[in-house]
Amino acid sequence: MENNDLKNLPGVGPATANKLESAGLTTAEAIGVTPPKEIAEKTGIGFNTVLNIVSAAREKLGVDFITAEDLWKKRQDMLRCSTGSKNLNELLGGGIETQAMTELIGEYGVGKTQISLTLCVMVQLSVENGGLSGNAVYVDTEGTFIPERVYQIAEALGLDPHETLGNIFLARAYNSSHQSLLTEHLFKFCPENNVKLVVVDSMIGHFRGEYVGRENLSERQQKLNSQLHKLNRLTEAYNLAVVVTNQVQANPTAFFGDPNRPAGGNVMAHACTHRVYLRKGGKGTRIATIIDSPNLPESKTRFRITEKGVEDAEE
Ligand SMILES: Nc1ncnc2c1ncn2[C@@H]1O[C@H](COP(=O)(O)OP(=O)(O)OP(=O)(O)O)[C@@H](O)[C@H]1O
Ligand SMILES: [Mg+2]
Repeated sequence: MENNDLKNLPGVGPATANKLESAGLTTAEAIGVTPPKEIAEKTGIGFNTVLNIVSAAREKLGVDFITAEDLWKKRQDMLRCSTGSKNLNELLGGGIETQAMTELIGEYGVGKTQISLTLCVMVQLSVENGGLSGNAVYVDTEGTFIPERVYQIAEALGLDPHETLGNIFLARAYNSSHQSLLTEHLFKFCPENNVKLVVVDSMIGHFRGEYVGRENLSERQQKLNSQLHKLNRLTEAYNLAVVVTNQVQANPTAFFGDPNRPAGGNVMAHACTHRVYLRKGGKGTRIATIIDSPNLPESKTRFRITEKGVEDAEE
């Protein structure tokens, strides 16, 4: 959707359309889901004008009140991207969902990045073949994206590795505020580049590094929350899947069971639709458990990391 569409909104002339465009608000969808206060701050357009534009955008999209039946229909558009492992797909209710955020949680080396890289390949497959016929964005906060590994996965799956690599858009986020800027840019970038999967690996690494100590915790959580909300809006606006990775931290109050818990507290827990907890199993296998899901049963399964990316583990 280009400027033209914005200019069709009542009250949006060419100058206003340009201001919105420069702030990355290029579609009625993006305007409809962004808080008016944020739009006003970013564009310098007066708040009352922004309110009119937002309501015009929402009217155009028909997003003010919908019936539960409409919501049911919208969720029928929800697509699922295969992970490459049947077991893992089943655990996830069919694969990684669009219109949702999936969180991969686990200690170092457990396979969060490996699953993410595999998904960047799988998403490119046609819907019949388990993909979303789309491209991928990879927001890399730790410099762990390895193109050679993607090459290997694509080749092992019988795909053209160069074409596969060409459909993955990388962004290296250097700090949490840069990460936030990139997130905002996605509202423009995703629809223009047929992006169906956005990976943020890791969601929380920069936040943990930058906001150290109790006194900074509430600011950290607030900033993290705002970024997660934006990602959630992105999944809804463009029917795409967002996958974020998260680390575990020691839980000093655990008396029994797993002494680790996901980082990011309630903010992460509430923002992510599906939380997948990963652990190492015997013989190089990995165990995935769904935690805190609104509609999936708490269950676990086993998979392996192989040259093809992610595959089932023989029982
Ligand atoms: N080509 C491959 N074939 C099989 N297994 C592989 C291959 N490449 C990587 N692995 C496995 O993946 C593991 C690394 O996993 P990954 O980098 O995804 O961890 P992570 O959860 O992202 O960790 P971190 O928190 O440090 O980012 C390696 O230890 C290895 O077991
Ligand atoms: Mg990693």
